[in-house]
Amino acid sequence: MNRGFFITGTDTEVGKTWCSLGLIARLRQQGHTVVAMKPVASGCAPTAAGLRNDDALKLQAQASVALAYETINPYAFEPAIAPHIAAELAGQRIELSTIVTSYRRLAAKAEISVVEGVGGWRVPLNDAQTVADLAAILGLPVILVVGLRLGCINHALLTAESIRASGCTLAGWIANSVEPRMAQQEDNVHAIAERIGAPLLGGVPYLPQGDAEAIAACLSLPR
Ligand SMILES: Nc1ncnc2c1ncn2[C@@H]1O[C@H](COP(=O)(O)OP(=O)(O)O)[C@@H](O)[C@H]1O
Ligand SMILES: [Mg+2]
Repeated sequence: MNRGFFITGTDTEVGKTWCSLGLIARLRQQGHTVVAMKPVASGCAPTAAGLRNDDALKLQAQASVALAYETINPYAFEPAIAPHIAAELAGQRIELSTIVTSYRRLAAKAEISVVEGVGGWRVPLNDAQTVADLAAILGLPVILVVGLRLGCINHALLTAESIRASGCTLAGWIANSVEPRMAQQEDNVHAIAERIGAPLLGGVPYLPQGDAEAIAACLSLPR
């Protein structure tokens, strides 16, 4: 079993968090201890304890080991905008070395780490680096969540190409229904499956709510 997975998506709002929660649930059902990380989050609420991001809180709750919020989400920014711009506005620079330090602390606590990216694969994190560089530095195999909607074939294939160009391994992809009735959905999934060169780990139907156990039941992971 791998040390973990880096979860990316064809875009923002395609189901990375929902699928990450399902993946954690599935891995836990298989008997593994799992920790999760959302290294960079823009779109955070101010609380007495500091800025808190909904994705990071959900990942924290789904993990099998309790960890400090700051370890799970070292970079939290209030506005829901591109992360490198949010960092600039906050007078910060996102440093991959800081994320790696948090990751090592977290990864030491469980068998498997699930790390959710931010936005898509080529989202800038600072003036020089992107999500792709972060995934490459962490050295984790990548799972691509494809939000099934018109245009997803192109986005899926472009992202797969870019993942490989970054020197990362595409471990598989998840076909996630983000629309209740997408025209020719099966044909779209088939078109991607034929061309992407990585296993389909599961098809997640359109669900009324983000139910980790229901999503877990849709996933079949390489043992
Ligand atoms: N399988 C699904 N069924 C129905 N709605 C979904 C599904 N997956 C995602 N969504 C919708 O898309 C939104 C974004 O999902 P999320 O996992 O937060 O995306 P990301 O992490 O990629 O930004 C969810 O809040 C939900 O409204
Ligand atoms: Mg998310």
